[in-house]
Amino acid sequence: MVLQNSFLSFSSLHQLQRVLPQSIPFADTIKHRAATRPLCASATAALKMVKAIRVHQHGGPEVLKWEDVEIGDPEDGEIKVKNKAIGLNFIDVYFRKGVYKVSAVPYTPGAEAAGVVTAVGPRVSGRKVGDLVAYLGNPMGAYTEEQILPAEKVVPLPTSIDPTVAASVMVKGMTAQYLLRRCFKVEPGHTVLIHAAAGGTGSLLCQWAKALGATVIGTVSTKEKAAQAKDDGCHHVIIYKEEDFVTRVNEITSGKGVEVVYDSVGKDIFEGSLASLKLRGCMVSFGQSSGTPDPVPLSAIAVKSLFLTRPTLKHYAVTWDELLETAGEVFANVASGVLKVRVNHTYPLSQAAKAHADLEGRRTSGSVVLLPDGFNVAPVHSMIHEGCKFLASCKLLFNNLSVHFCPPPI
Ligand SMILES: NC(=O)c1ccc[n+]([C@@H]2O[C@H](COP(=O)([O-])OP(=O)(O)OC[C@H]3O[C@@H](n4cnc5c(N)ncnc54)[C@H](OP(=O)(O)O)[C@@H]3O)[C@@H](O)[C@H]2O)c1
Repeated sequence: MVLQNSFLSFSSLHQLQRVLPQSIPFADTIKHRAATRPLCASATAALKMVKAIRVHQHGGPEVLKWEDVEIGDPEDGEIKVKNKAIGLNFIDVYFRKGVYKVSAVPYTPGAEAAGVVTAVGPRVSGRKVGDLVAYLGNPMGAYTEEQILPAEKVVPLPTSIDPTVAASVMVKGMTAQYLLRRCFKVEPGHTVLIHAAAGGTGSLLCQWAKALGATVIGTVSTKEKAAQAKDDGCHHVIIYKEEDFVTRVNEITSGKGVEVVYDSVGKDIFEGSLASLKLRGCMVSFGQSSGTPDPVPLSAIAVKSLFLTRPTLKHYAVTWDELLETAGEVFANVASGVLKVRVNHTYPLSQAAKAHADLEGRRTSGSVVLLPDGFNVAPVHSMIHEGCKFLASCKLLFNNLSVHFCPPPI
């Protein structure tokens, strides 16, 4: 099924805003989500110890420490959330290494999670103990058993949504949406090159690009990842550790090159990405898992009148409308089956260091989820089943809000 123009209709979008003005506040979630508060609760608050991953200095996975953290009760406008599943993103690695800057150390990493409300502070409406919620954004702080969040910064989830699936689509799904639909608008007939095609974000990009009618070329490092990329809709898969991907792209496109490259790998392949573009093609450099690319001379762009952009999710999710439209389109595509969410790896939260090492070591594919210790780890096939339940739930959620998605054009 192809869902090409599945934005919430304009009137439906505003209908959603009227119905639940504070229920899906993705914009503020990105800007203001509170981190777990270590050792700073007021004297009158009921202090409690929870376990969290803390980073005291930048470095390798070993700097991720499993520690006791004290939190108090939620204050005005706040809720306490017990996390059930925490999404691991490569951005967590950048912060840990110091590639991206944190405002202070020690800090608790983590940009997205799903959990259950365990306490509600004064002057909170619309949230109650037992509610299932999910959230994404900055500042980070999701690698914890429990945390305090502003009540209006969380997304309500129906109880049928599996938290591992919810914690996999908030960042990666919204990233796929803005890259394919707004940063460079992929259309039928385009040929697109997607690097790290079997990764968490790459898997969603490939599926969605194919659904948009593009010819999809994916690069991966292993045969196993190649099989997944093929299954996710790649028409051509290049094992870029074994083959020269520029030569192969040239062959596949009969020397023309591709309309757009989605490059999250950076340093190791940046030049090859530019070389793979057609005249007036668009280079979307949205990550640097192999390292930050060297500065690009204008002459490298001028040679084919190329376009170069280095986009970030927060700049494509600034306004309330943008966030609702982005999230709405992701949920719609998950609900319709256009996007299959692959939760290929789960780790106990206490073993976040192992998860980071595996992600950096290119040993993961699809989404990686951290589970607070003691959470019952379901086998992968069960995860996929839960993913299907999620699809139905999304539909239910939005139907209940009287929001209607535009029907798929094809
Ligand atoms: N700009 C934005 O708005 C935005 C938002 C979200 C994510 N991102 C970026 O998207 C990228 C993907 O994030 P993700 O969380 O979904 O991770 P991921 O793609 O699941 O994992 C990274 C993948 O990069 C590939 N890779 C190539 N060279 C590598 C190297 N030297 N070291 C490690 N990995 C290497 C590996 O795939 P192979 O083994 O197949 O090569 C690896 O599996 C990251 O760069 C992230 O920063 C950007």
